[in-house]
This record gives sequence, structure tokens and C-alpha cells, in this order.
Amino acid sequence: MSVNVFNTREVQDLLKAATNADGNGGNTRFKQIAHRLLSDLFKAIDDLDITPDEVWAGINYLNKLGQDGEATLLAAGIGLEKYLDIRMDAADEQAGISGGTPRTIEGPLYVAGAPLRDSVSRIDLDADADAGPLVIHGTVTGPDGEPVAGAVVECWHANSKGFYSHFDPTGAQSDFNLRGAVNTGADGKYEFRTLMPVGYGCPPDGATQQLLNALDRHGDRPAHVHFFVTSGDHRKLTTQFNVEGDPLIWDDFAYATREELIPPVTEKTGGVALGLKADVYKDIEFNLTLTPFVQGKDNQIVNRLRVAAVA
Ligand code: DHB
Ligand code: FE
Repeated sequence: MSVNVFNTREVQDLLKAATNADGNGGNTRFKQIAHRLLSDLFKAIDDLDITPDEVWAGINYLNKLGQDGEATLLAAGIGLEKYLDIRMDAADEQAGISGGTPRTIEGPLYVAGAPLRDSVSRIDLDADADAGPLVIHGTVTGPDGEPVAGAVVECWHANSKGFYSHFDPTGAQSDFNLRGAVNTGADGKYEFRTLMPVGYGCPPDGATQQLLNALDRHGDRPAHVHFFVTSGDHRKLTTQFNVEGDPLIWDDFAYATREELIPPVTEKTGGVALGLKADVYKDIEFNLTLTPFVQGKDNQIVNRLRVAAVA
């Protein structure tokens, strides 16, 4: 059976009625987007002859996605969050902005409210027998190459099980474990004393992994560390680095890897003097270059629902 009804008056009227397209009330922008997305869905059902069983499977899937609280995870896994980055990169290129540390996805696991320290913060609050010490440090500079004082560098990452505090299914971590914030001084430097993360994997029984299974895709990320960098007179930077040598670096289910975001990992001694749990530790230098405001404004601020906690 193949029928084509999308272009009939009846269906076009239905789309207009369902989105109140001809009415004056409601949110004009929302109505425009709803009409377009619903139209694209109806057209796909017609073009691909999507069956009622398939439509209901999709609708039931949306219920499971909401029950699992995984819509933001899915957004990363289906490349939607990466697509937004590709568009922001293109907008920057069009505006002639270049030279900053490349952006990459925020992901769904940030928690606002980490305690703010000056220049250095120790963020491994909980013991983790399987993770070795790691120092992450660098300099925040502006487009002119000068250090930025008073920048706030936030970072967050997983533990040796690939779990993030606040979202840890084992409940093992305290509130701000492996989450930190530092304020740069005149030298623009920041440092986090922490533990080496392991790559994150989607909850195996969750809706995201269910969809990935049907596509024959895995739901794993290489080991990585997230950053926000804010400063009163530069655009906010949202980025991550991947840990060099992780086998999944170029096979990230969330597509966050970029060539410039794989800093070398070196081994150093002197960890005990820094208060680390062993004298031999890994060191990653990750410098952060900010970009200027566009017409006096930060056009990189992304508003989305974020978890917040009190340290
Ligand atoms: C997801 C998890 C992450 O740790 C991350 O950085 C991005 C996405 C996710 O589960 O979708
Ligand atoms: Fe992550």
C-alpha cells in the first residue's frame, strides 16, 4: 500500500488547525516551528509509508525517553548537539571570528554551583582506588594573546567508572566530586588537581541506548573533561578535551572530538608536594583562548535547563 495524502487540502488544513496557524494568539515563533516540524513528520510518514505500528512504536519510545529523563542524552547521541556546534562555527566564520579554542558540546551532565577558588582547586573529594592523580592546568588568554585575569574556569568530569557526581547510579559520589571552578589571577592561570577520568557510557537499559542498539551503534565516549570559561568581556567558551590515547577518541557517540582538543598527557613527579595521592602523576596542559564579544554582546550564551546545587 502506498498512498500520498500529504498535499491534499484535508491534510494541509489539518496541519494549520493543529498548530492554530491562522489564529492570532499564541507564540508566533513557536507556531511557525511547530507547523514546520509537524509538516515534516506527516510528509515523512507519507513518503516512507511509515506504518501505524511504527508510528506507535515511536510514540511509546518518547514516553520511555521522558520516563528515563534522557532527552538531553539522546540529543548528544543523535548528533543534534554537534549540529548546533557546526552551525555556531559557521556563524563565527561568517562573522570573521577565528583563533579561539574550538567549542564542543556541553553534554547533559553539568551541575552549577561548584565552589569557586583562586587559581587552583583540588576537586577529587571522594577516594577512587582505580584512578591515578591528574593535574589539569593552563592559561586563559584573550584574542590578543594576553592573559585574562578574573576569568572563571569551570570543569567537570567522570570518575574511574565513567560516572559523574549527581548522576551516579551507584550514589557513590558527593555533590561536587570532580567538579570545580577557579578564578584566574593576573597571570590568567588555572589548575585543577584531580583524578584521571574514564569514558562515559550511556545507561545500558535507557532509552538512548535502546535507540543506538537499533542503529547498531555503541553509546560510549572517550575519557574527557568538560569546561566552561566565562569572563566579563569575552564570549563564554564551552569545550572539552579528550584524554590522548583513549581508543574511542575518534569513535565518540556524542561527536565531541576535535583535532585541537586532544592535549598531550605527560607524566611528572612531585605529586606528594602538591597534595596528590601519589608522587607520580599525569599532567595535561590545556590552554584556553577566548574570543571577543560580537557587537558588544556574548552571542555564545546558550540557555538550557541546568542542574544546580549548593556546595
Ligand atoms: C553524554 C554524556 C557525556 O558525558 C557527555 O559529555 C555528553 C553526552 C550523553 O550521555 O549524552
Ligand atoms: Fe561528559
